[in-house]
Amino acid sequence: MGAILVTGSEGKLGRHVVARLREDGRSVHRVDVKPLAPAHDYTRIDLTDAGQTMDVMFGVQDRFDGVDAVVHLAAVPAPGQMTDVATFHHNMAATFNVFQGARRAGVDDIVYASSETVLGLPFETPPPYIPVDEEYDARPESHYSLVKHLEEQMAIQLCRWDPALKIIALRFSNVMDVEDYAAFPAFDADPKARRWNLWGYIDGRDGAQAVSRALDHRARGFDRFIVANADTVMSRPSAELAAAEFPAVPVTKELAEHETLLSIDKARRVLGYEPQHSWRHHA
Ligand SMILES: NC(=O)c1ccc[n+]([C@@H]2O[C@H](COP(=O)([O-])OP(=O)(O)OC[C@H]3O[C@@H](n4cnc5c(N)ncnc54)[C@H](O)[C@@H]3O)[C@@H](O)[C@H]2O)c1
Repeated sequence: MGAILVTGSEGKLGRHVVARLREDGRSVHRVDVKPLAPAHDYTRIDLTDAGQTMDVMFGVQDRFDGVDAVVHLAAVPAPGQMTDVATFHHNMAATFNVFQGARRAGVDDIVYASSETVLGLPFETPPPYIPVDEEYDARPESHYSLVKHLEEQMAIQLCRWDPALKIIALRFSNVMDVEDYAAFPAFDADPKARRWNLWGYIDGRDGAQAVSRALDHRARGFDRFIVANADTVMSRPSAELAAAEFPAVPVTKELAEHETLLSIDKARRVLGYEPQHSWRHHA
């Protein structure tokens, strides 16, 4: 059996994903651009290099023999960290190389990180309805988000070319570690502070759960899922927040008190995803 190759394994989300997949009993090989001490389960790679990325899909001498599935998380993870041009080129090239390398090597199971940003963050243009879901056209508002949108479009076409291929885009909300929850009471004090993503978040462990479930999902072709926690970062009720900050936007369902406004109904229904963690348990 080959390994599950996790790109961006040393990142905020990657570390949770590696831990979760190991708990699941899967064989994981980590790849990242970070220079680490030699380890049997880690290989340093620059995914913007097509040759290295193609090669790793066939294994690495003295490390592992082949790849069964790819979890692709490596990216410049936000706008502003590099120039707009560099963010675009870096992320687009890395993801194309991963998709292309996997296909050439016959790896037909890919789960990768898209982003909540394609839903129209920071919502200076209000969303068409609340809760937002996967049903309306992407509205990228940054170069970073533009790449996330183009990656989804690329994945759709690659799956059309190859009906045996599965690519699942997980549109993660803002990733949080337990240590980050100390900052949440301050968000609570100012409804405008987190209006930009409809007060959503994703606990890294629940993000990893979604990756695990997406790997288990057997259907072929492309699909996309919003992955957020079941609640918001706020103690003010979700319906009140929506009415106060987006008065002209229709609310399409009866909202539970702190229900997420980034709908996870599809991930629940199709993947069996169910968040296990909430910042409220750590407050
Ligand atoms: N952090 C968030 O709030 C958030 C939200 C939505 C989506 N995402 C997406 O989730 C994924 C993971 O994000 P994160 O928060 O863990 O980011 P992160 O920066 O903590 O981790 C990304 C990892 O990718 C590695 N990497 C970057 N370029 C690389 C390259 N060319 N070759 C090999 N490795 C490379 C980095 O060294 C880093 O370890 C990204 O695709 C990001 O866009 C993140």
